[in-house]
Amino acid sequence: MNGTQRVLILNGPNLDRLDLRDSTIYGSMNFQELSAFVIAKAVELGLTAEVRQSNSESEIITWLHEAADQRLPVIFNPAAFTHYSYAIRDAVAMLTAPLIEVHLSNPLSREEFRHTSVISGVAKGTITGFGASSYALALSAMKELI
Ligand code: DQA
Repeated sequence: MNGTQRVLILNGPNLDRLDLRDSTIYGSMNFQELSAFVIAKAVELGLTAEVRQSNSESEIITWLHEAADQRLPVIFNPAAFTHYSYAIRDAVAMLTAPLIEVHLSNPLSREEFRHTSVISGVAKGTITGFGASSYALALSAMKELI
């Protein structure tokens, strides 16, 4: 423990394979580069970012329960779960510290099924469309909140 505030950075399905996804939509960083970028940005702000990714709804829910129990703030890219996971929404609703929803792309400028977020209504706020900078902007906002 170095005494700085921990922030969980949770990432949903397929974000581990960013290098294989459409770079015109998701940018050119692979997931490892994105993680390093987020960790470095957190250090600049005096925060400790713990970056996790899972393709499993169950594992993400377990992490959200852990965040609730430990009063940890969360920056969350739920990926495709954004659009339909009521189980994840219910877990987010039980958090005890702020959660900021982020997306690399702007889902509202894409296919219709991406226009619905079942998470936004229980998030403190949402930052979309800025690529990796969506996470950096969320960290700055989180720093102000906590
Ligand atoms: C995403 C947008 C989602 O619609 C999509 O399913 C993803 C990534 C984004 O970061 O832009 O996997 O959350």
